[in-house]
Amino acid sequence: MGERGTMSGKKQRRGAGTLRAADAGQRVRLQAWVHRRRDLGGVLFLDLRDVSGIAQVVVHPEEQPEVHRLLEEVRQEWVVEVEGTVRRRAPGAENAEMATGEIEVEAERAAILAEAEPLPFGMDERVGVSEETRLRHRYLDLRRPVLQKNFLLRSRLAHGIRNYLHEHGFVELETPILTRSTPEGARDYLVPSREHRGSFYALPQSPQIFKQLFMVSGFERYYQIARCFRDEDLRADRQPEFTQVDLEMSFVEEDDVMALVEGLFARVFPLAGIEPPARFPRLTYDEAMARYGSDRPDLRFGLEIVELSARLGASGFRGFRAAVDGGGVVRGFTVPGAAAASRRQVEGWAELARRYGAAGVLTLRRRDGELQFQVKQALSPAELEGAAADLALGEGDLALVAAGDAKTTAHALGALRLELARTYDLIPAGRHAFLWVHRFPLLEWHAEEQRYEALHHPFTSPDPADLELLESDPGRVRSRAYDVVMDGMELGGGSIRIHRRDVQQRMFAALGIGTEEAQARFGFLLEALRYGAPPHGGIALGLDRIVMMLAGAGSIRDVIAFPKTTSASCLMTEAPAPVDPRQLDELGLKLRDGGGR
Ligand code: AMO
Repeated sequence: MGERGTMSGKKQRRGAGTLRAADAGQRVRLQAWVHRRRDLGGVLFLDLRDVSGIAQVVVHPEEQPEVHRLLEEVRQEWVVEVEGTVRRRAPGAENAEMATGEIEVEAERAAILAEAEPLPFGMDERVGVSEETRLRHRYLDLRRPVLQKNFLLRSRLAHGIRNYLHEHGFVELETPILTRSTPEGARDYLVPSREHRGSFYALPQSPQIFKQLFMVSGFERYYQIARCFRDEDLRADRQPEFTQVDLEMSFVEEDDVMALVEGLFARVFPLAGIEPPARFPRLTYDEAMARYGSDRPDLRFGLEIVELSARLGASGFRGFRAAVDGGGVVRGFTVPGAAAASRRQVEGWAELARRYGAAGVLTLRRRDGELQFQVKQALSPAELEGAAADLALGEGDLALVAAGDAKTTAHALGALRLELARTYDLIPAGRHAFLWVHRFPLLEWHAEEQRYEALHHPFTSPDPADLELLESDPGRVRSRAYDVVMDGMELGGGSIRIHRRDVQQRMFAALGIGTEEAQARFGFLLEALRYGAPPHGGIALGLDRIVMMLAGAGSIRDVIAFPKTTSASCLMTEAPAPVDPRQLDELGLKLRDGGGR
């Protein structure tokens, strides 16, 4: 469609959202979408929207009959051009909720640049439209001011991050997308090769090995805003392709990487009005698990878990005794003022604990000066009072107590801690809590596979003090890994790496990767470690998660422009999709049973 209308001579275009009272009297030209259209007794009001925001345009039929006739036709989401004079609104007609609410533009000339059919959903942020519909028409969804805000923030953050890293001597380098599998613990996305039939590239789960090789090459400080691909179960904070701020540094220790990240957050988080502390507290993995039941504890509230094993492990209650005799624990935490919790609530909490594998949860309360506990009869008064004192249980308080093996009990109490904080509204609005969790175990025993797996990845350095345990007692080796956590969300993870070939080989052996397999999969890395590899370490920050936290978005999908659903499909392009049989043929591939599962 050609342009229709009354426009001729061009004025410079202004962003609708940039107009202010100080512009009153100026003539401006807007090109924007019709966000809303109202006809009040012949006077036409158009809210025009562009990326900068929304401004109100008025069209008076008597003064501008031709413009009025033209603009009367427009409907929501048409694209128009309007030239007119900025006027202060009449007293009482201002809109304090709009940045441009003090002014309006009196249209003097106009043109229609594009018509729009009725949209599948409105641009108004309050309308309830299914996410499926929104994702099918993502380009329209992205027009909505609420979402645009997230992406403008994302762009500003990425810009700020780049600036900061360049100022700190980092070199931006790219790593391949068509590559070999890099072990980060998820399934790979595979790409079949046409030239090498039967062989496959893997999309990188992270640039991990390449960035270490950059250190061997001598770049000393690398970063990349890198796309990563992981075929894993998706959740509100996980996507199959996501973006890392990936960095690596030579000649550093844990403190150096941590200080760099703290400085980075201090620089860019204020873009979203959040001021992190200059230094983040640190908890070892063991402390985090014992005190908060999580390796990414939310420290915005208390409800700290208390060790009761010594106090109750020899008591008359069999559940406690059996747990402690079997090498397990008795632990609990106090919820202030929750003594009036109902039987149904308590049953719900016990159910939650059972979902985490615990036998259940007991409740200790102090009401009217008296202690109530389901197993009170089995405890001596000293044990009961002692436990209440350990838990700092005051009048009107309730404590949840669980017993069992340390890991299960920690996870169950960790989940309960979050649940109770939500139930009793213990998370103060606007508060944020940052921390480092460090000294993770290097390896984790996988019962089904009967072997150890790297908790982080196989290139993480063991703590030198524990190196000798690598063969004799691998489960006890601590690593030089660290995660940065905000409000209970893991924002990033990294480590000091193994830079000695012999240690890397011992690590592969501890993981049950034989010499031949190690050579086949990681031969190039082992070889690189022969030729003067500097000590190095780094971290990868989940950019999507950072934006999510800073934008206050409820889902990672709200900060990824074209996200996938929880079943890893793109509803707009309908990817993944079947391909032409000829393409399969070229690749030497044949689908079993004609495809499907
Ligand atoms: P890791 O696997 O911990 O470490 O990943 C680093 C950060 O990336 C983010 N992240 C994700 N975000 C969205 N969707 C996902 N599926 C997803 N998976 C991970 C998280 C996480 O903290 N190579 C190492 C880093 C290193 O050692 O330097 C790595 O990838 O915020």
